[in-house]
Amino acid sequence: MKRHFALLGGTTSFTDAIVALYKLIFSFTLSEGTSLTKYENEFARKVGTRYAISFSAGRVGLYGLLKAFGIGDGDEVILQVPSHIVVPNAIKYAGAVPIYVDCNLNNYNIDLDFARSKITKNTKAIIIQHTFGIPVDITEALELANEYGLIVIEDCVHALGAKYKDKNIGTFGHAAFFSTEETKIISTTMGGMITTDNLDIAEKMKDFQKKCSIPDFWLSYRYLLKFVLYYFLLHPIVHKYTRYIYEFFGSRLPLPRPTSAEELVGKMPEDINQRLSNGQALIGLRQLRKLENNLNHRRKIAAVYDRELKSIGLMELKYPQDSEPSYVRYPLWVSNKDMAVEKYKSYGVLGTWFTSVLEEAVSPSYGDYIMGSCPNAELAAKHLINLPTHPKVKVNDAEKLFKVISNLVSVPVSKDKRV
Ligand SMILES: Cc1ncc(COP(=O)(O)O)c(C=O)c1O
Repeated sequence: MKRHFALLGGTTSFTDAIVALYKLIFSFTLSEGTSLTKYENEFARKVGTRYAISFSAGRVGLYGLLKAFGIGDGDEVILQVPSHIVVPNAIKYAGAVPIYVDCNLNNYNIDLDFARSKITKNTKAIIIQHTFGIPVDITEALELANEYGLIVIEDCVHALGAKYKDKNIGTFGHAAFFSTEETKIISTTMGGMITTDNLDIAEKMKDFQKKCSIPDFWLSYRYLLKFVLYYFLLHPIVHKYTRYIYEFFGSRLPLPRPTSAEELVGKMPEDINQRLSNGQALIGLRQLRKLENNLNHRRKIAAVYDRELKSIGLMELKYPQDSEPSYVRYPLWVSNKDMAVEKYKSYGVLGTWFTSVLEEAVSPSYGDYIMGSCPNAELAAKHLINLPTHPKVKVNDAEKLFKVISNLVSVPVSKDKRV
């Protein structure tokens, strides 16, 4: 079988790359311009909220939201693991305390009984993360939050376009944040958005956006350059060579990285709070217009993986009733993660989210996570791999790629018993 996929993000089309290239060559409105408002308006329309406000990353939006809700010193914010280190970072930057809750092994979303046991008089908010784009059981989550008067922030970083009871994810909580980093449902290389129906929060978030710095011309240029380069250099035919070049040059490459060294150890970088650039917004607008096709495709590919699992007698994921996931990636439990990565290597790059309970952290302790406190998440980090669902994966590729690792697939096991 030939090499199929260089990466786990594949929403960028040839025309997107050409438009970005054109913008790089002929435009002086890379940092600021009219695409930003158009993109925000279109994002709000797609999600179905009154307001959408853009930032340089989802994490910046989350930090702004916590401040806008008045969450600060000593307040506790519940979040699940596995997650990404930048989520507890945002909580800590706001002065609050991250309280970790385990995931269930049906779909890697928050265990709401565990969450209930962690609520104290200091708990102010709960972040519900729709992991891999699979909706949380929202009815249950909202019941819990209402019972204790908690603010609900939806982490929709994986879940743009996912639905629950025919309504878009991102419309259920008091507010939500999204990411358009290159491996997400749509890509603007890096990027974030918050959505809300609450006028007061929207106004506070607009004020926060004004206070965030405008990305300078060179940074805006590099984001768009990365967008174009990723499209061409990660093509399956050239990727095996370009990957060596990338690894050789490493941090000397002029392309911006998604997460800084300071964030990986829980520190706050000086200029983290930035706005989205106009060039990225232009690309975001293009990608939003193709969202429905993108999602239909992901669901079709996920159905292939579901079917393949059933054919070997396993049906791993359990979805909440009336939910339509967006499948940023398709998670699979394997008996030996390293072996799966090795077997897959010659066909593409296998997704390994989550490599730890706090993805990318030098150690989860930098997010104040105590090892042993969330056993399911720790097991998931050891056993989860993720298969691509993006628009460049065809149905027969998905069937073949599944077979590469199928003998390693197993059922999640928690404390010696099947879930
Ligand atoms: C679950 C989750 N939440 C939040 C984030 C942060 O999003 P961003 O990179 O846009 O800040 C990530 C990053 O991948 C993530 O996986």
